[in-house]
Amino acid sequence: MGGNNPYIESTDTPLPVQAYKITFQPEGKTVEVDPTALPYSREGNPGSILDIAIGHDVDIDHACGGVCACSTCHVVFKAGFASCPDATEDEEDQLDNAPGLEETSRLACQAVPSGSEDVIVEVPNWNRNLVSEEH
Ligand code: FES
Repeated sequence: MGGNNPYIESTDTPLPVQAYKITFQPEGKTVEVDPTALPYSREGNPGSILDIAIGHDVDIDHACGGVCACSTCHVVFKAGFASCPDATEDEEDQLDNAPGLEETSRLACQAVPSGSEDVIVEVPNWNRNLVSEEH
């Protein structure tokens, strides 16, 4: 899907300036992120965790299409949290609705790592498209 949410302040998150690795748990799939190849998909902010995941066949539920209007793309950083700019107020508002919120939780469609360090994110169990397909 992709696109913009007219109800939130638009963010111009800078793309990473150097290559880095991102690992998606629990699958353990690691992707080498090439800043010159971004965006990898049309989902979420360019260079976001969601953009990279969808571009590499890593399944992260994203009910609103990556426009910061739900919390289904919630992921938890296990490493590299500080390499992302702070969450906006709009992202924080959506995150408040995410089950299993942790200190290093972010919305995958909004968080764009700078590339200053490698990243490990965990996709929560309930967030792997299984939940929405079961109902
Ligand atoms: S996909 Fe809806 S907020 Fe990220």
